[in-house]
Amino acid sequence: MRTGGMLGLILVLVVAESVSIAHANGLRYAYYSRTCPTAERIIADAVRSHFQSDNTIAAGLLRLHFHDCFVQGCDGSILLDSSIDGSVVERKAIRNNNSIRGFEIIDDIKTRLEASCPGVVSCADIVALAARDSVAISGGPFYGVPTGRLDGKISRASDADADLPTAIFTAAQLKANFNKKGLGVDDLVLLSGGHTLGRAKCAIFSDRLYNFSNTGGPDPSLSSSYLTILKSSCPQEAPSSGRDSGPTVALDKGSEFKFDNSYYNNLVNGNGLLKSDAVLKDDSQTKSLVSSFSANSDKFLWSFVGSMIKMGQIDLKTSENGEVRIKCNVYNSAGH
Ligand code: HEM
Ligand SMILES: *[C@@H]1O[C@H](CO)[C@@H](O)[C@H](O)[C@H]1NC(C)=O
Ligand SMILES: *[C@@H]1O[C@H](CO)[C@@H](O)[C@H](O)[C@H]1NC(C)=O
Repeated sequence: MRTGGMLGLILVLVVAESVSIAHANGLRYAYYSRTCPTAERIIADAVRSHFQSDNTIAAGLLRLHFHDCFVQGCDGSILLDSSIDGSVVERKAIRNNNSIRGFEIIDDIKTRLEASCPGVVSCADIVALAARDSVAISGGPFYGVPTGRLDGKISRASDADADLPTAIFTAAQLKANFNKKGLGVDDLVLLSGGHTLGRAKCAIFSDRLYNFSNTGGPDPSLSSSYLTILKSSCPQEAPSSGRDSGPTVALDKGSEFKFDNSYYNNLVNGNGLLKSDAVLKDDSQTKSLVSSFSANSDKFLWSFVGSMIKMGQIDLKTSENGEVRIKCNVYNSAGH
C-alpha cells in the first residue's frame, strides 16, 4: 500500500536521526552498528526466508516478543529450556505450552549470527527485531528498534501464568495487567491490534459460541453472521482435546495475514474473536480508541510502533543479571 510505504520511509528517517541517542536503560538505535553491522540484515533475511515457506510465522514471532516482554521483561527468558533456579520454564506454562511458537526460527537466526559475530547479539534483541520484521513483512510499518538488551537466566512457568493476560479477562483486568507492566490504556488497545495477525484455537473461545457465562447460549455481543461462521469452524461435538490442539480460527476475520487496522473494524462490527478483544469496543475508556483506529489506519500504524517500542523496554536486565547467550535456549553457565 502506498501509505504503508510512505510511513516506512518516514520512520526510517526518524530513526536515522536518532542513532546517537542513548536511552537511560542502555538501549540505542543501531547498537550493533560497529560490533555486528550485518546483524539486522541477517535477521531480516532469515525472517523473510522462513516467511516465504510459512507465512504464519509472522504471527508466531510477534506474539513471542509480547510473551517474552510481559514475563521477566524482554530478556529472552521465554526461549530457555531450563532456568538457573531449576524452575519449570515459561514455555511450559499453561498460557504458552503448545501455543507459543517460533523457537526454531530464533535458533536458526542465532546460528547465523554466531557465524558472523560470535557472542555479540542477544537473544532478546533477536526476538524484538524478528517481531519488527514480521510486522513489516506482513504489510505493516517498518520501524527502528532500540537494541542492546541482555538475556536473562531465570525462566518460570509460574511467572508466565501470573503475568500473561487470558482471553477471558475483563477490560478492567486487561487494563490492570498492562498497567503492571507500565503500559497504559492506549497501549492495551494498540497492542491488542497485534491480533491483526494469526489464529486462535476453538477451545480458547468456544464458550462464547455455545455456553457463554453458563447461559447455555452464545455471547450476545457476537454478530449473528460471525456466530454462524464460528460455529461451523468450531463444532460443539468436535472431540475437544482441550487447549492443546483442535481447529483454529483467524483472530482478524478476513485479513489474518495482513498487518492492518481491520481488527478494529471487526471489533466495531461484533466480529472480535476473543472475549478480551470484544470487550475493548464496549469499555468506556477503550471504545473511543477502538473506533478511532478503525476509522484511521495510519493513526493505528504509527501509534502501534510507539507502543511496541515501549513494550520492548519492559524490565530490562543489567550486566548484573544479564548476559549475551551463545545459544538462545540455554543460559551460558549451563552450557559453557
Ligand atoms: C491484550 C491481551 C491479550 C490476550 C488476552 C491475548 C490472548 C491470545 C490468545 C488466547 C491467543 C491464541 C492462542 C492459541 O490459540 O493458542 C493469541 C494469539 C495471538 N496473539 Fe494475543 N493476546 C493478547 C495480547 C497480544 C499482544 C499485545 C500481541 C502482540 C503485540 C499479541 C499477538 C498475538 C498473535 C500474533 C497471536 C497469533 C499467534 C499465532 O498465530 O501463532 N497478543 N493471543
Ligand atoms: C505441554 O505439552 C506437552 C505436549 O503436548 C505435554 O506432554 C505436557 O504435559 C504439557 N505440559 C503442561 C505443563 O501442560
Ligand atoms: C453450561 O455450563 C454450565 C456450567 O458448566 C452447565 O451446568 C450447563 O449445563 C451448560 N449448559 C449447556 C446448555 O451446555
